[in-house]
Amino acid sequence: RRVIGLVVAAGAGERAGGGVPKQYRRVAGRAVIARACDGLAAHPAIDAVHVVIGAGQEALLAEAFGGNPPAWTIGGATRRDSVRAGLAAIDGTIVLIHDAARPFLPAAVVDRLLAALDDADGAVPALPVADTLARGDAALGDTVARAGLNRIQTPQAFPLPLIRAAHAAWPEGEEATDDAQVARAAGHGVALVAGDAALDKLTTADDIARAEARLAARLV
Ligand code: CTP
Ligand code: MG
Repeated sequence: RRVIGLVVAAGAGERAGGGVPKQYRRVAGRAVIARACDGLAAHPAIDAVHVVIGAGQEALLAEAFGGNPPAWTIGGATRRDSVRAGLAAIDGTIVLIHDAARPFLPAAVVDRLLAALDDADGAVPALPVADTLARGDAALGDTVARAGLNRIQTPQAFPLPLIRAAHAAWPEGEEATDDAQVARAAGHGVALVAGDAALDKLTTADDIARAEARLAARLV
C-alpha cells in the first residue's frame, strides 16, 4: 500500500482577500499550506505529500516551506481541474485529497478515513449541521430541515485508480466542490467518518484571524 496526501492549493482565495492567496498567508509564523501539509506528512500511514499550485506560484511555495517544498504540479482554473492535474502526477494506491486552506488536521481523522476504506470505496470527514438552515437573501425564507445534513470536510480518501476514473467520467464543464460527489456520481459508496471543527476551511479574512487567535491561545 502506498498512501499519498494530495493538497490542492491553486485557488485565488478571492473571498479571503489580502495581497496573497490565503494558503500562502502565515498563521502564527507558518504558512497555511505548510500547516495543511504538515498534518499529512506527520502521519505514519502517509508515504508522501504532493501539492498542486497555481501557475507562477513556485516562489510563494518555496517561501512557505522555508526553501524546502514538497513535490508539486501546476493546477487549473477550477478546484476539479487542480485535483485532476494532481491525480495525474502521483503514483500510489490510496490518495487523501486535501484543501490547502485547512491548516489543522487531527491524526485521528486520518486514522478513521483509512479504516473506513476497508469497507467503502471512499471516506470523508463530516460534521452534523448545528445551526438552523434557511433560504433567503434579505428577507427570511423557508427553513430547511437540518436533520441528517452534514458539513463535509477534507481530506477525502479514495483508491487512486477509482477516483481518477470517477473524475474522467464526470460531465466536462460541470463544477464539483469536492471529490466525494464525483465518486458517488460514478456509483461508488462513500463512508462518513467523524470530522473535526479544527478542520474547518479558512474561507474569509475572519476565518484567518480566528485561526491565528486559536493558535495563540494554543487551542489547536
Ligand atoms: N483550489 C485549487 N484550484 C482552484 C480552486 C481552488 O486548487 N482552481 C483549492 C484552493 O486553493 C483551496 C481548495 O481548493 O485549498 C478549496 O477551495 P476554496 O476554499 O474555494 O479556495 P479558493 O478557490 O482559493 O477561494 P475563493 O473561492 O474564495 O476564491
Ligand atoms: Mg473557490
